[in-house]
Amino acid sequence: MLTNSTELDILLLLSSIIFFLLYIFFTRNFNYWKRRGVPYKKPLPLVGNFLQVVRLKKNFAEVLAELYFETNVPYLGIFIGDKPALLIKDLELSRNILVRDFQHFTDNSFANRAGNISEYMVPFMKGKDWKLYRKFNTPAFSRATLKSAYFELIIEASNELIEYLDTRLNNNENLINGKKLTEGYSAEMLTSIALGAKGNCFRNENSKILKMAHDLFNFINLKRGISLAAYLLYPKLVNLLKLKLIDPISESEFKKVFFQSVLKRKENENTRQDLVGILMKWRREEREHIELDDEKMVAQAITFFLAAFEGITNVTVMALYELAANLKIQTKLREEIREYLNNSNLTFEAVFSELKYLDMVIKETLREYPPVAVFNRECTIDYRVPTTNFLIEKGTTLFIPSFAIQNDPEYFPNPDVFDPERFSEFNSHKIKAGTYMPFSDGSRSCMGEKIGLTSVKVAVARIIQNYQVDLRDDSQRKMKIDPKAYVLGPDEEKVTFKFKRV
Ligand code: HEM
Repeated sequence: MLTNSTELDILLLLSSIIFFLLYIFFTRNFNYWKRRGVPYKKPLPLVGNFLQVVRLKKNFAEVLAELYFETNVPYLGIFIGDKPALLIKDLELSRNILVRDFQHFTDNSFANRAGNISEYMVPFMKGKDWKLYRKFNTPAFSRATLKSAYFELIIEASNELIEYLDTRLNNNENLINGKKLTEGYSAEMLTSIALGAKGNCFRNENSKILKMAHDLFNFINLKRGISLAAYLLYPKLVNLLKLKLIDPISESEFKKVFFQSVLKRKENENTRQDLVGILMKWRREEREHIELDDEKMVAQAITFFLAAFEGITNVTVMALYELAANLKIQTKLREEIREYLNNSNLTFEAVFSELKYLDMVIKETLREYPPVAVFNRECTIDYRVPTTNFLIEKGTTLFIPSFAIQNDPEYFPNPDVFDPERFSEFNSHKIKAGTYMPFSDGSRSCMGEKIGLTSVKVAVARIIQNYQVDLRDDSQRKMKIDPKAYVLGPDEEKVTFKFKRV
């Protein structure tokens, strides 16, 4: 007898048995790496090695970086919840996974669900379908399309940005939130390129487009947080709970604007070669007999918008943060831009290749803070690690922690120091292969690298050409990373800058 009541005793006994069975279930895989002779980090039930992520205290990439720096082994066994995964530290092995032996690792480990828009979104697609859709999308990401169609639209969005900053300063409002500013710029530009419409993101504070862009793929409430975490970390929950990857309200807003543009073009025979035009052409051609129905067509536009929005917003604000914290670098950059432009307008060539110091500043930003800070892959065919007896089993999730690698003092001395000179003509050859990959490597690397770099450079160049950007007096020297975001980006509350026309 445990208590004076038999009913209470039975209840206690039953709950202990249930608790014990649940414990056994959630820890059933915890011997996986021990059995395989792989060094591993001891996990906790339910959360694996990611308690800090579940408690929203740290970003996923930060926790992986801590694990990376704690260990000296080429690969470390870890646990995502109850699922074994492998953290790759060895550069040769990471290159094998991404490039040389890619045929064993063609998929990433994101969940996907039939009947959802993400079923046709390249970053979440698998196997042959992924390969086909990636190939068909190539024209939308080419240098030629960027130069002939998108560049002008990027410049138009940057004009809106400058107009907005001038208006705020004329009203004596010089404290401006950097994240909101760069979100406005990215949303304005992408609405023009991917939706063929005007976003009015700066003119209208309650812009529906801006809200849509922000909410598409963000942790805006607990339900969305659970959905995103499940897609990225607990795939089994996705089907069980019928979760959606893209926020349903934003998805329907996106579809409304996109199909209005398609309709207008059909009526006016408009042939503007932005993304809408490119997708309409793809639909007419029925490449390899694949019918690009409405859902598949809009999925390509959402992919473009989403992948670009997060990357461009975060890299631009992070570059501004480092320039504000390092005024000598900011002044040197302003001198380069002013000298080169000499009062003329920014050209594609200037941005793409000729402003060398600007390029170094953005490269260094991407080193210190790569927005896609971890690459994940799923082993699709068993793989024996060269020169060892260790077999990575089909179905194993692997993580390549680019944030940790790019901030490893062994490869980048004094990694916390923002130093664009690492990428100068004289120094860049010192960077070891496989240690710098903000856009990843191999067949699944970023499709929008050129578009992303060009858009970030246009915004940074125009801001620094015209304004002095300072940190607020109470800002920390080191930028605070948002623990709730799935990409690496700044905590929105901590990136308000002081702007001054110069
Ligand atoms: C500006 C900063 C950007 C950064 C740092 C960045 C980084 C990355 C990285 C690292 C990956 C690959 C992850 C992996 O290996 O698993 C990726 C994938 C991708 N990115 Fe970007 N990206 C940026 C901008 C863009 C833009 C502007 C677009 C579209 C216009 C875009 C479209 C894509 C797509 C479609 C994929 C998926 C590729 C696939 O799965 O085959 N990205 N990005």
